[in-house]
Amino acid sequence: MAEGYHIPVMLKECIEALNIKPDGVYVDATFGGGGHSREILAHLGDNGRLIAFDQDEDAAREAEKIEHRSFTFCQANFMYLKRYLKLNGVTRVDGILADLGISSHQIDSPERGFSTRFDGPLDMRMDQGIAITAASILNEYNEEDLHKIFGMYGELKNARTAARIVTQFRVNQKFSRTEDLKKALQSVAPRGKENKYFAQVFQALRIEVNTEMKALENFLHQSGEVVKTGGRLVIMSYHSLEDRMVKNYIAKGKVYGEVEKDFYGNMLRPFEAVNRKPIEPAEEEIEKNKRARSAKLRVAEKL
Ligand SMILES: C[S@@+](CC[C@H](N)C(=O)[O-])C[C@H]1O[C@@H](n2cnc3c(N)ncnc32)[C@H](O)[C@@H]1O
Repeated sequence: MAEGYHIPVMLKECIEALNIKPDGVYVDATFGGGGHSREILAHLGDNGRLIAFDQDEDAAREAEKIEHRSFTFCQANFMYLKRYLKLNGVTRVDGILADLGISSHQIDSPERGFSTRFDGPLDMRMDQGIAITAASILNEYNEEDLHKIFGMYGELKNARTAARIVTQFRVNQKFSRTEDLKKALQSVAPRGKENKYFAQVFQALRIEVNTEMKALENFLHQSGEVVKTGGRLVIMSYHSLEDRMVKNYIAKGKVYGEVEKDFYGNMLRPFEAVNRKPIEPAEEEIEKNKRARSAKLRVAEKL
């Protein structure tokens, strides 16, 4: 049941934003517990099609519960969007939804190591098949790279200090549990704001383990190639780094840098924003589901 696995965020808003045609082809790039996928399927007719992605094997098991002739699941990273669409005989789609980050199921499973609330292995892989884990980063990356990750992905004010402490700690003891990391950084976490600080550290590691920024960049560029004219790109993000990339891509056709123009001065970008500002969840939704509170939904239409 999707509700136990993950409560879908801004479900109504996402479905409206996709502007679903019953015979259209849609992609749910982040299946999770399938809350959004189920609703998309409910809007499709016999000739419509939904192709869903998730790199997590638990999500793949959830997807097996959907028996619908219009549904195809790919256990894959969405950075290979085009390749998997092609494998399924699809070159163009009418809309793509991505609900970025991790699911409640992932964060609430102590053995996955995503949560600052429980002790667990320093794992943090969404795709359990990859070799890199949070522990291997903490035990093997040099101080400079750790500094970069904590600063860029965790936006820690004392990233350099945190990196130094990690390299000092591991001289005596290898990092293996989430509690090791909290113990190591306890003394440099701002007093009274420890939870927020640890959440930023965990976020930084999670982004690095799963190469989230690179995956999102590749995915955005491919979405510009596969969405049909008039089709929709609907992306929900939960932290400013992701939202900035999505915003830039929609406005400029690139995640970094300025928009390119043709000889006549026309902007070369595949999408145009449907809303100037991102859509945020209503107060009632945040009251019912705290995890919705940082969500920002951006909607764009293919030019
Ligand atoms: C916020 S949850 C999605 C929840 C889903 N919309 C629902 O209603 O149940 C994000 C999901 O996307 C998956 N995911 C994140 N990044 C991914 C990527 N690059 N490729 C494939 N799946 C990814 C995660 O494994 C997770 O299951």
